[in-house]
Amino acid sequence: MRDQDARQAILIAAARTAREHAHAPYSNFRVGAAVRAKSGRIFTGCNVENATFGLTLCAERVAMFKAISEGERGFDAVAVVADTETLTPPCGACRQILWEFCGDAEVVLANLNGKVERYRLSALLPKPFDNSYL
Ligand code: THU
Repeated sequence: MRDQDARQAILIAAARTAREHAHAPYSNFRVGAAVRAKSGRIFTGCNVENATFGLTLCAERVAMFKAISEGERGFDAVAVVADTETLTPPCGACRQILWEFCGDAEVVLANLNGKVERYRLSALLPKPFDNSYL
């Protein structure tokens, strides 16, 4: 297995494990995410729902904010795992948050059956608003 493939497999496995911690009693839609820092460290997250519905946090943002709050900076890849045949992409809000901290990182989507797709974040979020406009 090529080094890049091995690193991708590790990131997907981390997101898949995080998904098992999802708190999703309202949607029953469980998502796991993992962000990989340029340092090599991996931070994971799962979706965390709330009875108010509107306060739900997506897996991607949980992973991203965990990394930032631990002091990590600089990221090159994000994996998202859900149990869907059509792979689950990050929502619009998460794309914006990922852009803030990861820039044009690789976004790896996967399901539980081993289906995988890869995108650049710029393909998922064309013309993002960021600090270059400020
Ligand atoms: N969700 C995520 O965590 N990430 C995504 O990429 C898509 C949606 C969560 C939010 C909510 O808990 C559930 O999936 C259904 O929308």
